[in-house]
Amino acid sequence: MKTPIRVCVTGAAGQIGYSLLFRLASGDCFGPNQPIILQLLDLPVGMKALEGVAMELEDCAFPLVHGMELTDDPFKGFNGVDAAFLVGARPRTKDMNRADLLTANGPIFTTQGKAINDRAASNTKILVVGNPCNTNAYIAMESAPDRPKSSFHAMTRLDENRAKAQLAKKLGVNVGDISNMSIWGNHSDTMFPDFFHAKVKGNPITALLDQEWAKGPFLKTVATRGKAIIEARGLSSAASAAGAALDHMKDWWQGTNGAWTSMAIASQGEYNIPEGLIFSFPVTVANGQVTVVKGLDHNSFAAEKIAATTAELVSERTTVQSILQAAN
Ligand code: NAD
Ligand code: LMR
Repeated sequence: MKTPIRVCVTGAAGQIGYSLLFRLASGDCFGPNQPIILQLLDLPVGMKALEGVAMELEDCAFPLVHGMELTDDPFKGFNGVDAAFLVGARPRTKDMNRADLLTANGPIFTTQGKAINDRAASNTKILVVGNPCNTNAYIAMESAPDRPKSSFHAMTRLDENRAKAQLAKKLGVNVGDISNMSIWGNHSDTMFPDFFHAKVKGNPITALLDQEWAKGPFLKTVATRGKAIIEARGLSSAASAAGAALDHMKDWWQGTNGAWTSMAIASQGEYNIPEGLIFSFPVTVANGQVTVVKGLDHNSFAAEKIAATTAELVSERTTVQSILQAAN
């Protein structure tokens, strides 16, 4: 058995938390030989419910769980953490768009960024799930000036998984047959699910795919799936979001063996995306190092989509400057 690692989950008393924690505790993310100490953070109002979740975790008798700490103090929650899932934030309701969430949720991430800056382990991996996740990750990163920008990611894996599922259904293949399906840009309806570079059973998908379907209904379905789920369920996606968060962190921790996946990371200017923007790219991961897939060509359709999602992220970044200034 390895030395236990410390893993923080924020919003641990919420819906996503309830789907995430049990799989995390059973070894789905960090592997079957990696013990963990869970550091569960929620608001004071969530502590009672969190105690109930902790009782259930205890009752599962997971051998990998070597400790559990419950807190409403981010400076305790992030103390020494090797990895953290930043889920705690208000979800969008039927009448809200993601922009409304910026004002509601942005300030959470200045405080948490500062706590991460002061308390997390040196090579900590921070995955932001709470929406709007790209710009919340940007806020946390900017609030943690002593940490490398590469420590902060936002989640677009759910969008990638949704895209793969739609393509597999359309082509009558298994979802595992689809690869190189990457998301560019923001986790919002401006995202670009890049089907042009996707493969089915290792072969280019474009030869098999109805391009009009792909450019129209496919892109729309993937980009607006979150809204469709809210309308159907009356609640935001939870189990699929938790699954995608585990997929993302597992790939970051364990590597992708050369396979592509989508991660929203701080741009270093790749594909002319402004530096520092938390932008989703196709990446590979080895030894914890995330590398953007290089040399991809974009036709005018793709270039236009990427420009639109970039413009949205630049505008979100401008909007949150006041939140960052107010916190300093
Ligand atoms: P939820 O309301 O069920 O749970 C949120 C939890 O966060 C609650 O327990 C709440 O008390 C807690 N919380 C709020 N502010 C906090 C803070 N400052 N510190 C610690 N905890 C805090 O919501 P949910 O369904 O679990 O969704 C959580 C977030 O995830 C939402 O913002 C939602 O939009 C987002 N989400 C993102 C994706 C994605 O693909 N990136 C997918 C689905 C949901
Ligand atoms: C999702 O994509 O399911 C979430 O981001 C929820 C939302 O607000 O769309």
